Amino acid sequence: MRVVSTSSLPIDLAAQVQAALPGTEVYMPPRGHVGLAGVDLTEADALVCLLLDRIDEALLERAPKLRVIANCAVGVDNIDVGSATAAKIAVTNTPDVLTEATAECAFALMLAAARRLGEGERLVRSGQWSGWALDQLLGVGLAGKTLGILGFGRIGQAMARRGLGFGMRVIYADPHDVSAQGPRRVSIDELFQTADAISLHCPLTPETRHVVNAARLAMMKPTAILVNTARGDCVDENALIDALTAGGIFGAALDVFASEPRIDPRLLTTPRLVLAPHIGSATTEARTAMAQLCADAVIDVLSGRRPPNLVNGEGWPYHRTQGAT
Ligand code: GLV
Repeated sequence: MRVVSTSSLPIDLAAQVQAALPGTEVYMPPRGHVGLAGVDLTEADALVCLLLDRIDEALLERAPKLRVIANCAVGVDNIDVGSATAAKIAVTNTPDVLTEATAECAFALMLAAARRLGEGERLVRSGQWSGWALDQLLGVGLAGKTLGILGFGRIGQAMARRGLGFGMRVIYADPHDVSAQGPRRVSIDELFQTADAISLHCPLTPETRHVVNAARLAMMKPTAILVNTARGDCVDENALIDALTAGGIFGAALDVFASEPRIDPRLLTTPRLVLAPHIGSATTEARTAMAQLCADAVIDVLSGRRPPNLVNGEGWPYHRTQGAT
C-alpha cells in the first residue's frame, strides 16, 4: 500500500503508518507543502492533504486506488465530497482538536477590532505617537453587549463560552436548534440587527457563500463589529470594504479571504479592519493533533476500520476495488 501527503507534518507519519501496516510505502515531503502537483497519486491508497489542495473529480480520476482522503482541516470545502463518495473514497477531517484554538483566535480578533489594536500598533511603530490623549483611538466596549454567533457548532459554542466569560449576552443563528445549550436562537437577519459583535463559525456551503452581503451589513448597528475566522467566501469583501469605508459598521477582523493567499489590495487600506493570515488553528498543540488525526484516519481506513471523523459516513463501509469510480 502507499500513503502520500502533500505536506510535511509535525508527526512521523511513516513510522506510525509502518508500525500499524508493515510494508506500506509513505511519501511525505521533507518540508513545506508540495501540493497535488508535487505528488504521484497513481498508486496511492491514502492521501493526506491541506485545505490548500483542491480535490475535484478530475483529480480523483488520477487516483484510481485511493481509499481515503484525510484533510488536515475541519472545513472540507476544498474537496468535492460527492465525487469522493461516488468513488467510494472515505473523506475525513480534523474536528474538536482545533476548536479551542480557533475560538481563541476569533476572540482575539474580536477584541483587536473592538479596541483598534492594529491601528494602535501601527501608530506606535510609526514613531508618530505623540502621547496619551483622552480621545485617542476610542473603541467599543464588549461587557454587557450582545455577541451574535453565526454557526453554532463546536467552534461557535467555544466562542460563546468566551463571550459569556467576558460578560456578554450570546445569541446564535444556526440551521440546528441547540438552544438547550443556553443562548437564544435567532434568524440570521435578527442576528445582524441585534448583535454588537458578530462572529462567523459556519462551514462554507452554497447557503453560506456571501451570507454577509451588503444587505446584512446594512442591518448591523454602526457600533457593531464583524469577525470572520470561517471561510473568506462567507463574506462579500466588496460590501465589507464599502461598509467600513462609509462607517456603516464600527470595525471588522478577517482571518480568511476570498482568494487566499491573494488579498484584495483595497483591504490593506480599509479603515478599522484587522487582518490575520488564516491562523485560526495555528497553535502547536492544535496543528500536531490535527496531523495525528489524519494519520489515525489513514491507518483506520487502510485497516478496514471506520474512522471517528469520517465526513461521508453514509456510504460506509467502502469497498473500493481498483479502478472503481
Ligand atoms: C481551517 O481553516 C480549517 O478548516 O481547519
